[in-house]
Order: sequence, then structure tokens, then C-alpha cells
Amino acid sequence: VPHRPIVCFDTPLVPSSPYYFGQEIVTQLPDVLKGHDFDRCFLVTSRKLMPLFGEDILGALRRDGVSSDAVLIKESEQHKSWRTLRGLGERLVARGVTKDSILIALGGGVIGNVVGLAAALLYRGVRFVEVPTTIMAQTDSTLSNKQAINGKRGKNQFGVYHAPLFVWADAAYAAAEPPRQQRAGIVEGIKNVFISENCTSAADVLLQEWESGNRFYELLRHLIDSKLAILRRDPTEKGACLILEYGHTFGHAVEWLAGNLYHGEAVAIGMCLAAETSHALGHMSRPFLQDHYRLLGTRLGVPTRLAKNISAATLLHAMRSDNKRTKKGLRFLLLRGCGEFVNPDGDFQTAVPPERLTEVLRGIEAEAVLPDSIIS
Ligand SMILES: NC(=O)c1ccc[n+]([C@@H]2O[C@H](COP(=O)([O-])OP(=O)(O)OC[C@H]3O[C@@H](n4cnc5c(N)ncnc54)[C@H](O)[C@@H]3O)[C@@H](O)[C@H]2O)c1
Repeated sequence: VPHRPIVCFDTPLVPSSPYYFGQEIVTQLPDVLKGHDFDRCFLVTSRKLMPLFGEDILGALRRDGVSSDAVLIKESEQHKSWRTLRGLGERLVARGVTKDSILIALGGGVIGNVVGLAAALLYRGVRFVEVPTTIMAQTDSTLSNKQAINGKRGKNQFGVYHAPLFVWADAAYAAAEPPRQQRAGIVEGIKNVFISENCTSAADVLLQEWESGNRFYELLRHLIDSKLAILRRDPTEKGACLILEYGHTFGHAVEWLAGNLYHGEAVAIGMCLAAETSHALGHMSRPFLQDHYRLLGTRLGVPTRLAKNISAATLLHAMRSDNKRTKKGLRFLLLRGCGEFVNPDGDFQTAVPPERLTEVLRGIEAEAVLPDSIIS
């Protein structure tokens, strides 16, 4: 993988963090870290990622005289839990972490979120650096100050806002991900262009870069830009940024119930379910509904249909415990067309009565297929 010099920008968030992006840039990490005052670094990663990228990082830090240690945690979605969080916190304390230490989260969105939350809780807040290794984490989860773990009844139910000291994204890491995961990572980028203007042409550009196979660095830059454009409208992530959750109310429930889908895959199914709902309620045209299936399913190759074993009733039940739920009941982000939300109450969300939703879901269920070809 060729070296690409580092570009640095500030995330348009409150608080904002520097985001360093390049390719094959590990040797420059110690210098950036040494610009901060700290006693020790704790690199938190998994058993799998330690030999892939962790040893390299630890080697670079130690060669440069940075006192550093590694702590390994489990990293699958079911380990994004209280148990993992507590175990990590207690081990860090036992290893001598202080208020002046820096945690380094090396991994995908799960490790980033767990370490981010641990950093926020340790001594009421220590600094942490995110080194994202997946497309999803480089282009989405690190461009957010949201840290969380899952509860027994749903995703991301316990969390806080805690900004990283900086983000260090090396395109070479995401390039090493397995293709199924890469495809899932691109879904949020397609979503970001759907919720912006000129979406189908922008989605085409992203997909051409993906299909070409040799424009990976450019693809990542475009995916990052697709999220920055939306964050600039709402740096606190509490207002207009809600539109980033397009497809997520359905998607989180699907992810939770299926148990074998990547986040991006579940979001793709969620976007198609949101589009079906919008179409059934008379808001979305058939061609735009079909764009969802064509761009996500045919071109990107991610699942777009609900698995047969998930019934409308089960899905509705799961959505009722979603963390986006408020006193207003079940509401959805529904698009009419590119970047144009149905907006009856001025907050981009539309209440859909459960009976109507059941009807829509049953209609789709009839043609549902299991994403067997994709689950391998
Ligand atoms: N905070 C936010 O705003 C936000 C936004 C989006 C997603 N998320 C969260 O992120 C999580 C999903 O993250 P993810 O998609 O990065 O997956 P992940 O963290 O679950 O990682 C998936 C797998 O990829 C492996 N892996 C990571 N990098 C690799 C690499 N370079 N090469 C080979 N294998 C590699 C890991 O070992 C792991 O087994 C979800 O829990 C989701 O809720 C959070």
C-alpha cells in the first residue's frame, strides 16, 4: 500500500477533535502523541487486531520513548457490554492508569465505543485517542462523540458524549478488512448521500470508486466528507443531525434480532424498510424506492430484505425499546426523495401507527428472502 501524507482537519463537532488521515502513517503517531502531556499510554485492542496492527503501533511508540502498555478486550457486538466495560476499567486501574494517562482505542466501532465510554468514566474522564481500523469506524463512528455499550434489550442504551483527544485513521488498516465488512462499512456513506441533495449521482461516484478496486483512499475521503457535510449543520449531534439516523430505527431492531448481520448490513435493510414505509404512505416515488434496492443490493451487494424468521410483530416489539424512542412513540425518518424528509412536526420525524406499520411490514414479508448468499 503506498504511503499517503497525513491530512488533518478538525471534526465539526462540539467539542471538536483533530482528525488525522493518511496511509501507512504509523511512524508519525508518536510525534503527534508527544505533543500532549501524559504519563503513560494504554493501547486497548483485541487478540485479533494486536498482531495485525497493535504490535506495530506499540513498537513505534516504545522506540520513540513513549511509555506504553497493551490491554486486550473482546470486541464482538455481544461483548459491547457492561461486563466488558467493567473488566476493562478494573484492569486499567490494576495496571496503574492515572488521570494523566491516555487510552488508545485500536479497532472498529465496538472497541472505539467501549474504550470511549471507559475513558469517560475512569476518574470522571481521561483522554483517549481513536485509531479506527474499519471503514465504518474511520468514516462514521469516530466522526461522532457518542460512546456507548448495549443493554440487555437493545443497542447503545448506556452511553455518554465524550470527544477523543484526536482520531488517527490509516487507510491501510481499512484496506485490510474483509470485503463483506468493507461493503457494510460503505452503507452509512450511501445513507449520507441519500439524505443530502443530488444523492443518486453522489452514490454513483462512491460505488464507482468501490467497484474500481484501486481508489480506496479516495473512497474513504469521500465517505468521510459525506458525514462531515451533515455534521456541519449540527455540531452538537442533537438537532438536525438526527437525519443521520435514517434507516436506523428499523436497522437497530434488525441488527438486534438477526444477531448475524454487520451494523451497516442492518442499516441497509433498515433504509429499505423506511423507504417501503414511505412509499406505502404515499410519500416516496417508486423509482426512488427502487434506487434503494439497486444501489445497496445490486451494486454494493449488501442485504436489503428482512430475514423470513423476523416477523412484523417481533420487529415492532424490538423497535419499541430502541434508544431513539421518546414519549411521542414510534416515529421514523421518512424520505420523499434525495435529502427531502417528510416533516410534519418540524423535527424530520413521522409517527406511523403500529397497525399501519404492521400492514406495510406484512406486505414486504411476503417477498422476503434470507440473505443466505451474504451470511458466510
Ligand atoms: N458512536 C457512533 O456514533 C457509531 C456510529 C456507527 C457505528 N457505531 C458502532 O460501531 C459498531 C460497528 O463497528 P464496525 O463496523 O467497525 O465493526 P466491529 O467493531 O464490530 O468490528 C468488526 C470485526 O472487524 C475486525 N476488524 C477490525 N478492523 C479490521 C481490519 N482492518 N482488518 C481485519 N479485521 C478487522 C474486528 O476484529 C471485528 O471482528 C457497532 O457497535 C455500532 O453501534 C457507533
